[in-house]
Amino acid sequence: MHVQDAEIVMSAVDPKQYPGTGFPEIALAGRSNVGKSSFINKLINRKALARTSSKPGKTQTLNFYLINNFFYFVDVPGYGYAKVSKTERAKWGRMMETYFTQRDQMKHVFLVVDFRHEPTIDDIQMKDFIEYYDIPYTVVATKADKIPRGKWNQHFYQIKKALNLPSDESLILFSSETGEGFDKAWKLIEDILED
Ligand code: GTP
Ligand code: MG
Repeated sequence: MHVQDAEIVMSAVDPKQYPGTGFPEIALAGRSNVGKSSFINKLINRKALARTSSKPGKTQTLNFYLINNFFYFVDVPGYGYAKVSKTERAKWGRMMETYFTQRDQMKHVFLVVDFRHEPTIDDIQMKDFIEYYDIPYTVVATKADKIPRGKWNQHFYQIKKALNLPSDESLILFSSETGEGFDKAWKLIEDILED
């Protein structure tokens, strides 16, 4: 897909604030600082439409990015950041649960994990949550540029195994630095939006 037009239309915390236009939505999920917002920026070829930071906790709300007046990427705040109060964590949980379990036009989740490391307990819980609610998903292992190519296979299968993924197609290797996985991700998005 050639992205001609990408704009943020809403930062929402509450369902009343979700866009009412009915376009399909593709949502991100993943640990804080793993690279969710960077993934969106890479795919839409914008350096900083989705705000990123080297410090975890940059994205705080559900951010709806309208692409080509056709579908939304929904960027979300990450989990697993230690310096978050209990109250904030509970607020995050409610916001995410409401969105993920009640949003009909949400068609697919990209669960972003760090290609360098074993998935965390939080990653596994997030994946279980997504499966429990029967939400179609694909895992994106990002920051591939930080691992030498000779080790890619080993990391790929470690992550696949740790998350107990059904097939090789359930895991996309990605890098927002080099564009690795760009074509695969777009091909998948086009398939999702065709259905
Ligand atoms: P929160 O909004 O806090 O949940 O984080 P996020 O998941 O949106 O992460 P973000 O995209 O803000 O990226 C976090 C940091 O990782 C930034 O410093 C990015 O530049 C860096 N980063 C993201 N993707 C990649 C990648 O593929 N390769 C490398 N080398 N760095 C990356
Ligand atoms: Mg972010």
